[in-house]
Amino acid sequence: MPAAGATGATGVADGVTAAPARVDLEFQPSGTRVRVPPGVTVFDAASWNGIAIDSTCGGHGTCKKCKIRILGGGADVSPLDARAFSPDELRDGWRLACRAQAATDLRIEVPPLVTRPKAATVGVGRQVILRPAAQKRYLELAEPSLSDQRTDIERVLDGVDDLELRVDLGVVRSVGQVLRAADFKVTAVIVDDVLIDVQPGDTTARLYAVAFDLGTTTVVATLLDLATGTPLAVASMLNKQQPFGADVITRISAIMMEPGTLTTLAGLAGETLAELTADVCGQAGVDAADVCEVALAGNATMTHIALGIDPEPLGVAPFIMATREYPEVLAAADLGLPVHPRARAFLFPAFGAYVGGDITAGLLASGMDRDSRTRLFVDIGTNCEIVLGNRDWLLATAAPAGPAFEGAAIRCGMRAADGAIEVVSMSPDELELGVIGDAEPAGLCGSGLVDAVASLVGVGLLDRSGRFVPEDQAAGIAPGLAGRLTMLGAERVFVLHWLGEPGDVARSIYLSQRDVRELQFAKAAIATGWNILLAEAGLGPGDIQQVLLAGSFGSYLSPGNAIKLGLVPRLPVLRVVSAGNVAGEGAKMALLSVRERAGALALQEEVRYVELSDRSDFNDAFVDQLQFPE
Ligand code: FES
Repeated sequence: MPAAGATGATGVADGVTAAPARVDLEFQPSGTRVRVPPGVTVFDAASWNGIAIDSTCGGHGTCKKCKIRILGGGADVSPLDARAFSPDELRDGWRLACRAQAATDLRIEVPPLVTRPKAATVGVGRQVILRPAAQKRYLELAEPSLSDQRTDIERVLDGVDDLELRVDLGVVRSVGQVLRAADFKVTAVIVDDVLIDVQPGDTTARLYAVAFDLGTTTVVATLLDLATGTPLAVASMLNKQQPFGADVITRISAIMMEPGTLTTLAGLAGETLAELTADVCGQAGVDAADVCEVALAGNATMTHIALGIDPEPLGVAPFIMATREYPEVLAAADLGLPVHPRARAFLFPAFGAYVGGDITAGLLASGMDRDSRTRLFVDIGTNCEIVLGNRDWLLATAAPAGPAFEGAAIRCGMRAADGAIEVVSMSPDELELGVIGDAEPAGLCGSGLVDAVASLVGVGLLDRSGRFVPEDQAAGIAPGLAGRLTMLGAERVFVLHWLGEPGDVARSIYLSQRDVRELQFAKAAIATGWNILLAEAGLGPGDIQQVLLAGSFGSYLSPGNAIKLGLVPRLPVLRVVSAGNVAGEGAKMALLSVRERAGALALQEEVRYVELSDRSDFNDAFVDQLQFPE
């Protein structure tokens, strides 16, 4: 079984007893048992594992509702416990779950819920109990006097004395005026452990964040109400860097060739994110200055460029990133965002140059690191990211699939936009097309390409090697379709939709023999990727209990046809599911819950990256995968 950093080890070195790698917690009355790293609070351990404990503050230590009783083992009494319980209750084991740290194995009684915890369903059916890094506290403070000469900042910090906060300079500059103008009735705005603002009056109802999925092609923004976990508005647009190339390699090349291009591309990323921010805030009627935090999931190149970091070493072997993790104290202003001037930004770390933060976010949303089932995560694009594993181990790799799925390198290819054929189904007698926007077909997008090839293999007009059958056989195999199999110059093509004069192949939408080859290369690269991961894990395709097709392309791909082509292992079709835009979902989760964010960072230790490009077995495996399955 592959090594997984998360499993850790318990041991003794040089006479020093190491801390246990995990402690066991048993929750009563449900009897649920969980294993967590020592030091995790009982509240976090419970919510990570879907056990609800009463709370209205989400674990911030202000509501005192998270009462539990330690039945076995022990937990230290925190200063807040002393305020929440009588000495007798403390002796009986009562503690606040959000303050009680699990240092040893514990048995815990959870009283019935009085209030419903605020939770949101995000990701692949994940329940996230709200505990954003951003929070607001309304404070009615005592006015200074000669007998109370605390500074303005001390006065505010004393109002939130359950937190140890650092203070942003901007707050120090404005706090005096704000306190006096508001009669010392103010709202403290906190992100993580930083006081980013003191606002006049009670602004606690206005706390927002924006989650970004920064794709090479498309960028998506979701505005979240952090008080309720509700998405208020979503907007997407093409990445403004598009004119500099369709994929990361061409953008890196543009930066290498022309001085100043990095600054231009970083500016375009900022403009794209800023326009989307204005769009979602406008849709929801939210003042962008009330957005206190943003999270961004993007591949390594997109994230590097957005921060103005030179991505050149990512584009050539040995493919080195400037950094895997981004500084903890990033400001949204570093991305050029027109939100609260001291809003913070969280950027997902990358596993490798070609398994980036978008995949970290996707894994978070899919919960692969917490699921006992062995699952395969496949994000299909020009670069295909693949992760295999379960809660005990995870392996990741990147397969160079090429641009076929984006519609590039395909003669009649186009992006998934209005007019793109996205669904193709065939019987020997007829052909049906599904077109985006119900428009006249203008080209073939990635999912249409997969459908078309899978259907042609299905009816027998393409053989397993990917060659169109001879014309004299076609009429016998598929009488209603044979007329579509024709020649364009010296190349054999299959016409999907006739346009122009009857028989005008050149103006029609067709699939050429070379297009089929492009798809075969892409499919072989992906299948080689997951086959190598399976071999590393000592498993076979039958051991995979679920395949998650991720990313915008994966969401549109027909699972049945993905199996038929061998893009994913041959499994019962119900085990292959479209997971949707998991990168964006992961970004939302990181904003809604600091625990989930910690989980995303922990993935760095839990995922082992397997580099394909230097493997001696890659070429043989690739050639084996070129054929379509039986
Ligand atoms: S969850 Fe509110 S005080 Fe513990």
